[in-house]
Amino acid sequence: MKSFNGRVAAITGAASGMGRALAMALAREGCHLALADKNSQGLEQTLALIKASTLAPVLITTQVLDVSDRRAMEDWAARCVAEHGRVNLVFNNAGVALSSTVEGVDYADLEWIVGINFWGVVHGTKAFLPYLKASGEGHVVNTSSVFGLFAQPGMSGYNATKFAVRGFTESLRQELDMQRCGVSATCVHPGGIRTDICRSSRIDANMTGFLIHSEQQARADFEKLFITDPDQAAKVILHGVRKNKRRVLIGRDAYFLDLLARCLPAAYQALVVFASQRMAPKPRTPVLETNDEPRL
Ligand SMILES: NC(=O)c1ccc[n+]([C@@H]2O[C@H](COP(=O)([O-])OP(=O)(O)OC[C@H]3O[C@@H](n4cnc5c(N)ncnc54)[C@H](O)[C@@H]3O)[C@@H](O)[C@H]2O)c1
Repeated sequence: MKSFNGRVAAITGAASGMGRALAMALAREGCHLALADKNSQGLEQTLALIKASTLAPVLITTQVLDVSDRRAMEDWAARCVAEHGRVNLVFNNAGVALSSTVEGVDYADLEWIVGINFWGVVHGTKAFLPYLKASGEGHVVNTSSVFGLFAQPGMSGYNATKFAVRGFTESLRQELDMQRCGVSATCVHPGGIRTDICRSSRIDANMTGFLIHSEQQARADFEKLFITDPDQAAKVILHGVRKNKRRVLIGRDAYFLDLLARCLPAAYQALVVFASQRMAPKPRTPVLETNDEPRL
């Protein structure tokens, strides 16, 4: 797809971050939009921002939904076609983050992240695929992460969902190539992007003392790693769609970690353990009172 002008794009997670930036960039190019998010206030803000900054006469519809709800996603896809006449692009972008050890993670938290990050992408892909094929020229854009290429301690739930999105999308792309049906697929692997994801992420108490000092400090430290602007990320994603790329990396951090995982496909883990141990809180040596006898 060389131009987005006059096309129709459906975007999940459009109330914030990269979803909002994609919506604004596409609107500027004259692309009609169907925007979805669970956050109704954020969606309204996205709508207002587009209206204030875009001259192109584009039709924009919004839907409050939870991407982990399969029925809601199927209904939304049907509504998009009813309201816009067709859909050419779906950006399965909505996502959340979770930090916890494998041993300590609650099943409820795992189900939460898998429901959004993995099932949300599956629901969006399957609900829209028949309509993308019917449009004659379509594209599925699924957001994984650099953590879909590279694993880290304390991120097993996030890693699992993002590796799964990558496998799912790469397999989909191969099927679509074989079918020559006018639809393609791209998997997106952002590095650290300056969005709200950190604020909405869950950090389990079992991380404190293991990999982090405190939840508040961890959120602040993590945000320091967010080096790319969401507008720049949207630009890179749309360039990747135009070029029909299979994989899109965003940010120099993503390129570096991808290279590391390619050069040291298993051994990189030892480097991550070494670096994580250096950054982890040090076990405190108990302070002895003067009249305490050291216990042997
Ligand atoms: N920010 C980063 O550094 C980074 C890096 C790699 C990958 N990603 C991925 O990029 C995608 C976009 O995230 P972002 O960084 O823009 O974060 P963000 O928090 O700014 O935006 C995510 C959006 O998804 C929405 N959302 C969350 N759960 C939902 C649900 N159940 N149903 C519908 N909408 C839901 C949120 O309300 C929010 O508007 C996510 O998939 C994320 O995992 C982000």
